[in-house]
Amino acid sequence: MRVVSSLKDLNLERENLPKPIGLVPTMGFLHEGHLSLVRESVKQCASTVVSIFINPTQFGPKEDLAKYPRDLKRDLSLLENAGADVVWCPEEAIMYPPGFQTWINVEEVTNKLEGAMRPGHFRGVATIVGKLFNAVLPQKAYFGQKDAQQVVVIRRMVKDLNFQVEIIVCPIVRETDGLALSSRNIYLSTEERKAALVLSKALKTAGAAYNNGDHDAENLRRIMLKVFNTEPLAKVQYISCADPDTLDELIHVDSCALLSVAVYIGSTRLIDNLSLPCSDDRVEKAA
Ligand code: PAF
Repeated sequence: MRVVSSLKDLNLERENLPKPIGLVPTMGFLHEGHLSLVRESVKQCASTVVSIFINPTQFGPKEDLAKYPRDLKRDLSLLENAGADVVWCPEEAIMYPPGFQTWINVEEVTNKLEGAMRPGHFRGVATIVGKLFNAVLPQKAYFGQKDAQQVVVIRRMVKDLNFQVEIIVCPIVRETDGLALSSRNIYLSTEERKAALVLSKALKTAGAAYNNGDHDAENLRRIMLKVFNTEPLAKVQYISCADPDTLDELIHVDSCALLSVAVYIGSTRLIDNLSLPCSDDRVEKAA
């Protein structure tokens, strides 16, 4: 596995890599969720490039950029074991040269949910992902379903801007008790870690209601809210039952839907989601 930082070195490595190339964009502090993307790329592609770059433009002024967790040494050892071929860790000045003023702005699908709560977030994500695609020129790129809206935004950008890359979405990886893996989980105290289970519990309860025949979107949102109200440490930001492509809120779930939630547990903001119909075997049909 080679580790490069300049564009010149990335280009040199890229030229010699067997194609197809799979790209796994990350911000580091890797967990099993990221590694599942790397393993999928290793399975499907002749070469795998992983980028590690904490992208400042996708953090709001009150968000956790300065304290975002970092551990490059550990990341590199995990990536080597997972079978990555090249790790690209660009300097900030490469991604945002002095005088930078060119952005990718995906419109409608960024106005809701995460986009509404985190103004500018998806402009930062789309711009950096577009730049990573331009530099690495991968045939496939891997993203986690955990950031469901990010996937919708990137798919839209790829279509609209004719990026020649196939987007592969991998399932959410969870702890055995249901907590979705996230680099931000390390901010949780023991008590908060327990309380954070309320996210997967709320989604699971609504998923079970759906499987049991309740396809009324407002009912499903209400069911989730009721579960959150049982957890004093949870402060709900949004609860959504939306069309999985447009992210517009639904009245009735006719074919499929994305249930998604954003919740503060203490000062840590967590997100989670569940796609309906649930292929997720954690959500059984209630008897
Ligand atoms: O999902 C992430 O970790 C980031 O949003 C990404 C795609 C690496 C862009 O910075």
